Amino acid sequence: MSVPVMRPRLPDAEAILPYLRQIDAARWYSNDGPLVQRLSSRIAAHFSVAEDEVALVANGTVGLTLGLRATGAAAGGRCLVPAWSFSATAHAILGAGLVPYFLDVEPTSWSLTPQIARQALADGVSEVAAVMPVMPFGRPLDLAAWDAFSDETGIPVVVDAAAGFDSLMPAQGPTVLSLHATKAFGVGEGGVVICRDANYVGDVRRLANFGFTADRQSAVPATNAKMSEYTGAVGLARFDTWPTVRDTSRALAKRYIAAAANFADIQFMPGYGDWATSTCVAMLGERGAAAAAHCLAQNGIESRRWWGDGCYQQPAFADCQSGPLPMTEMLSAVALGLPFYPELDDVTINRVLETVCVAGEG
Ligand SMILES: Cc1ncc(COP(=O)(O)O)c(C=O)c1O
Repeated sequence: MSVPVMRPRLPDAEAILPYLRQIDAARWYSNDGPLVQRLSSRIAAHFSVAEDEVALVANGTVGLTLGLRATGAAAGGRCLVPAWSFSATAHAILGAGLVPYFLDVEPTSWSLTPQIARQALADGVSEVAAVMPVMPFGRPLDLAAWDAFSDETGIPVVVDAAAGFDSLMPAQGPTVLSLHATKAFGVGEGGVVICRDANYVGDVRRLANFGFTADRQSAVPATNAKMSEYTGAVGLARFDTWPTVRDTSRALAKRYIAAAANFADIQFMPGYGDWATSTCVAMLGERGAAAAAHCLAQNGIESRRWWGDGCYQQPAFADCQSGPLPMTEMLSAVALGLPFYPELDDVTINRVLETVCVAGEG
């Protein structure tokens, strides 16, 4: 493919080296070492929360699983989740011993809203032990409204904010970020759990460290999901260049929006370009995502239906129940991830958009 859909760029070796030398000097490689502690402090400052309100873990998926576990949601219960998400969301729910129940998303925000979840409860969806809304491709959610939902219903809410490093504004309840290489703030593999309840965050940290109490007793069934010092090194180097990475990403998204204005019926989610992103998911209207992807491929341009037909369609979740999903079906038919990487120039953006339009004519 001459135009890839993504070219992640993590901090280079030169930028990471000073931190690696600190690891050599300290000879501390994991288990809440000094670099992970510093990264955690920087992330807390970035999100304006206290240091004990942040837990760093091995990846976003395990962060979601442990985030659900720490709510105390009883195993076997249902977890309401948008069908329009990546399969990691539903895997995390199963990993916490809960059963995904897929709901539709609201058309403009592409997300599960408290209103949709309330309607599902009113319609008789029973044994709901938790809810996991998703910030689609980093788009912010009304987190205060989810706090209110949780207070009112007593049902814990853990937000999958995977791509939300630049858009998340934490409210009270738990939110989980991914630091995967394909995210705007990528470190390779990593996850962040943020919650204004330090006791909850302490529970997440324990669940990520064999369930150990202070005297190394495994108090509850748990796992090892700690972040290593090497990931801490990449994370600190990422912070050093973050303002440039963030601005480049936002500017590229805005260049896509400006270029698409010259082509009929190519749309982006409202707010796209206001936060740093690593993806460009366009809605291609009548053309359809599959036809456009085919035409792009024939012209040497890679694209990706990032969430395929929606995670509810993945074979792994075939036994799980769903509500009616017309919006998810519509989005999965028209949404396509177009090439997005820092070096993408305007000539190539126009070539991508022109090729998409040719698909519509065919
Ligand atoms: C919506 C969503 N949830 C969860 C995840 C999982 O994060 P990770 O890859 O860090 O496990 C991703 C990652 O791509 C994601 O896009």
